[in-house]
Amino acid sequence: MQTVYDLAGLRAVLRAWRQQGQRVALVPTMGNLHAGHHALVRRAQQCAPRVVASVFVNPAQFGPGEDYARYPRTLQQDQAGLAALGCDLLFAPPVEVMYPHGVAASVSVHVPELTAMLEGVHRPGHFDGVATVVTKLFAMVQPDDAVFGEKDWQQLQVVRRLVRDLGLPVQIVALPTVREPDGLAVSSRNQYLDPAQRALAPRLYTTLQWMRRQALAGHVHEAIERAAVAGLARMGFEPDYCAIRAVETLQPAAGEPPHRLIALAAARLGGTRLIDNLPFTA
Ligand code: PAF
Repeated sequence: MQTVYDLAGLRAVLRAWRQQGQRVALVPTMGNLHAGHHALVRRAQQCAPRVVASVFVNPAQFGPGEDYARYPRTLQQDQAGLAALGCDLLFAPPVEVMYPHGVAASVSVHVPELTAMLEGVHRPGHFDGVATVVTKLFAMVQPDDAVFGEKDWQQLQVVRRLVRDLGLPVQIVALPTVREPDGLAVSSRNQYLDPAQRALAPRLYTTLQWMRRQALAGHVHEAIERAAVAGLARMGFEPDYCAIRAVETLQPAAGEPPHRLIALAAARLGGTRLIDNLPFTA
């Protein structure tokens, strides 16, 4: 597997593949690759004969006081893992390649509505950073397919919306969340947890399962959300939100059932912020 760090290198490889008429799939990541990312690469390999993985810790999607500086950077390990999977190309640009005019002076992509709720409330500017870097990566790689994990459900909807709105010729492919045997969603941030926090962390997922049971039993969503927040706080989490929403619009469910719903939650354990979700039909 080749690694390229700049646009000239990236374009040279892509040009050769395109001349052979080969379809290209992209797996955008921030590195520190784990089983969840590896599943994304394997899914991408089903979409296209050529797979590009990008590793870029995107400063624009971290707020002040978030973990940009300490976010784990493990490029050599990531390279080895991707090569073992048979990934074709790793694009690992430095910040100057992604933001030649600096982050603050960058062209920015803003997706309205979807980004004003849930994660957007607790991480102001986060989705502008995500939408901007994903649009840049799509412009640079011009993939036919791009694979994203469902763990960041709101991010997935934001990406789908920007692709539709900008008319980008890329097919977005989503992959269900990969979980540890105890149910905890696999995440690069799990390694920040101390043993006591790690033991507690799967309760975020059991809370989502409880929310689904309550919704299926016909309880009022707002009451379920309040009880879930209180329950997480009692266990020792600092919850940001627990919500039951329509899967695509992320608005509260309206009208007659059946509804494709999703329970979403975000909560802190010490300095570590965890998010998770559980789609279901009610
Ligand atoms: O999900 C992530 O790892 C990031 O938000 C992404 C999509 C790679 C953009 O930086």
